[in-house]
Amino acid sequence: MRRNMWGILCVLTVGLCGSLMAAEPQQGTPKKGEAIYVQHCAGCHGTSGDGLGPDIKELIVPPANFLAPKSRTKTDMDLYLAVKQGVLFSPMHGWADRLSDQEIRDVLRYIRSLAPFNPIG
Ligand code: HEC
Repeated sequence: MRRNMWGILCVLTVGLCGSLMAAEPQQGTPKKGEAIYVQHCAGCHGTSGDGLGPDIKELIVPPANFLAPKSRTKTDMDLYLAVKQGVLFSPMHGWADRLSDQEIRDVLRYIRSLAPFNPIG
């Protein structure tokens, strides 16, 4: 009986550590994000994140400038939702069907490395 208890405890501990470790990469890797950004986002948002990419001439709504206070004061969650679901009435469509949650986190980490979150702008 005692043995079984240890067994169960062991399985629980391993399970818990496993899920904690699995949670780690959820934070996003800027290096992976950079590749995604260059491929999918820089055309509009610009290599430096200033919103002046080469594809913007025909856009009615200009892309967000990530370096500006308007974007920097937004939380990671705000930006995450904009990427996942898109921005209404703008050419920024949602990426949920093309990028995994992990890839969206990676690309956001990269954007935040160009333009860190700054609550006072
Ligand atoms: C077709 C051009 C285009 C492409 C491609 C594009 N965006 Fe956008 N993006 C926009 C526009 C336009 C907006 C809306 C700006 C506004 O609301 O003023 C926007 C808004 C955003 C916002 C919200 C910013 C804020 O301050 O609210 C984020 C985050 C974002 N884009 C990330 C991305 C990422 C990541 C990619 C690549 C996976 C991407 N965009 C690709 C045009 C584009």
